[in-house]
Amino acid sequence: MAAQLIDGRAMASGLRRELAERVRKLAAKGVKPGLGVILAGNNPASRIYVQKKEEACAEVGIQSVHHDLPATSTEKEILKLVERLNADRTVHGILLQLPLPEGVDERKVIDSIAPEKDVDGFTTGNAGRLFTGKKSVTPCTPKGILKLIDSTGVDLKGKHAVVIGRSNIVGKPVALLLLERHATVTICHSRTKDLGEATRQADVLVVAVGKAGLVDQSMVKRGAVVIDVGMNRLPDGRVVGDCNPDVREAAGWLTPVPGGVGPMTVACLMENTVEAFLLAQKALGKVAGKPAEAAERGLHGKD
Ligand code: GUN
Repeated sequence: MAAQLIDGRAMASGLRRELAERVRKLAAKGVKPGLGVILAGNNPASRIYVQKKEEACAEVGIQSVHHDLPATSTEKEILKLVERLNADRTVHGILLQLPLPEGVDERKVIDSIAPEKDVDGFTTGNAGRLFTGKKSVTPCTPKGILKLIDSTGVDLKGKHAVVIGRSNIVGKPVALLLLERHATVTICHSRTKDLGEATRQADVLVVAVGKAGLVDQSMVKRGAVVIDVGMNRLPDGRVVGDCNPDVREAAGWLTPVPGGVGPMTVACLMENTVEAFLLAQKALGKVAGKPAEAAERGLHGKD
């Protein structure tokens, strides 16, 4: 029987609707979340991703402020903009779309983002928190992947999860999240000797490489949950994932491309921005609450 498709588009739409409702209630109190968007250079794919993220902001009620920087921007110029957004009280999240222009130290710029505004979860500090199991922001694509897996009803505990790809954005963080959920995790990559041997063990297979047709049905365990993170443009203009269409014959569940992981990445960015906003509000309340409490204690003379 052909795999059931996991409808990421519908799930993302539901999440955006829930977030819009939360933001609408907040807006009634006169406050609104804000996202500072930095697009440096003219990578065509990045431009499309940013456009989708800004459209989602408009739908959810997040104020997005777009900063377009030329491909010739220097590291110093980008750092200066991040510094400005860090200090801006109306900005609760910063989206620094990657890749940055050539010659710019990406790690240095990412790490200049204030940790509480790091809605992608890319800073070294937040990545370290994820690594050590401390509460922090969860990177958007891995967060979306876990939601997609959960929608199948498959319990990850004790399952064998195989991740193909070891990027900082997807492969490594998703492996940590699967581990946190008590899966046995194998990470494969370009130097893995026998990829098929590893992937055939997978109850859950996450493919995040960027190579059309990398995984075919002979590499998939019957009934497995397969999450295809790939986005590859073919010469004829079609966008396909990393899985061959025949994977549908072996898998139990499969995310389509397009319409699977992509929309969930965007929706999770919205969720992280709303959460960053709520934490900022809470921190403000605490600061504002202190003198009031102290004043009250002073008035009554005891605690
Ligand atoms: N470039 C590719 N994927 C991403 C992502 O999820 N976030 C950002 N900021 N840049 C990216």
